[in-house]
Formats: sequence, structure tokens, C-alpha cells
Amino acid sequence: MTNEHYFSPQPTSASQPYVIRVALPEGTLNLSTDRGVFSYGALDTGTRLLLLKAPPPAPTGNLLDLGCGTGAIAITLALRSPNATVWAVDVNERAVELTRQNAVANQVHNVRACVPQDVPEDMLFDSIWSNPPIHIGKPALHELLLHWLAKLSPSGAAIMVVQKHLGSDSLQAWLTARGYPTERLASAKGFRLLRTTRASR
Ligand SMILES: C[S@@+](CC[C@H](N)C(=O)[O-])C[C@H]1O[C@@H](n2cnc3c(N)ncnc32)[C@H](O)[C@@H]1O
Repeated sequence: MTNEHYFSPQPTSASQPYVIRVALPEGTLNLSTDRGVFSYGALDTGTRLLLLKAPPPAPTGNLLDLGCGTGAIAITLALRSPNATVWAVDVNERAVELTRQNAVANQVHNVRACVPQDVPEDMLFDSIWSNPPIHIGKPALHELLLHWLAKLSPSGAAIMVVQKHLGSDSLQAWLTARGYPTERLASAKGFRLLRTTRASR
């Protein structure tokens, strides 16, 4: 029995890798999932919506998977934009290591998985994709999003998937009010897919 969250920096639950197959338009990923990391044993429904419905990411530059977990989003970004560098960040060190291993196992070589503080301070991102950690609580989530959205390049866009009953509509309104115009791209199975840009100044 453990009270561990999927966002513990160092999960204490015993590692027990379990490989899942994720069918995407570009092919099938073999992804190792693990205990102590979000979405053990299956691809999250929201993440699936993002992977299937998101518009193409920027073809070059730096892209970000914010809260990478197993790396499903980062690896998909890397496959869709092979000439870009994909930064995959997570506070959970087991997730970072899993993303690294999953990238190699899927022959993807343009993913840099690391803890957030290892991303160079002045880096800007042309695409940010995320299934954000809603369960860290609203104040922490807002702080996290403002930190990383400030790193969107002027023409960049963030694509996020959020569960409707966990506040996707109020998050959309809050982001827009904070200077990040946010529109709904899709809605399915209780999830909303949101697109956020920087307000033109
Ligand atoms: C909802 S999960 C999504 C995981 C993965 N992207 C997926 O789609 O399966 C959110 C992730 O955000 C991570 N996280 C929580 N707080 C974070 C923070 N401050 N910075 C970066 N990642 C964080 C969690 O550890 C978790 O892996």
C-alpha cells in the first residue's frame, strides 16, 4: 500500500515494467510503462486523443513534451518532426529514464529527456504538447503553465489535453484571460483538446 503520486520525484514502488503497443498513423510504438509513472499498463485516453487529433507540430526547432511520463507524446513529436529537437521533461526521475529508454527502443534519436531544471534557461519552444498534471492542484498547475508557456516562441502553439470534469473549460478561460488565447480543437470521451498561443503584442 502506498500513497505515492505519479508525480513523486523518486517513486518508491518496486519497478515492474510492462510493455504496451500504441498504434499511431505513422506506425506502432512499443512503450514500456512502469509502476510509479502515470498511466501504468495502458495509454491514457486523453493522451490518445492528443496523439490522434493534434495538428502537425513545428517541423524544426525545439519542441516540448511537458510532463512526459512514459514518453508517448515526446516520441510521437520526434517521429512527426524528425528534424526538430524534442525536450521531454518530468519531475519524476523514473519517468525521465523510461522516456529515454522508450525513445531508444523505438529508434528515435531526437528526444532529450530530463528533469525540468536541466532545460537551458533561455530556450524557446515552437510547439509544446502536454497532458498536464492536473492533480498537482490548481495553484501549482497555473504556475507550471505560466512558466512554460512564457517559453513559447512568438509563432509557437501549445496543444494540451484536459479532462472536462477536471476543469478544462475553466482552464481555457483562465489561460485566455492571462494573455494566452486558447481555443478548443476537439472534444471526445470527456476530454478537451486545447490550442494555446501567445497574445500578439
Ligand atoms: C497526466 S501525466 C502525463 C504523462 C504522459 N505525458 C502521458 O501522456 O502519458 C502528467 C505528468 O506530469 C508530470 N509532472 C508533474 N509535475 C510536474 C512539473 N512540475 N514539471 C514537469 N512535469 C511534471 C507528472 O510526473 C506526470 O508524469
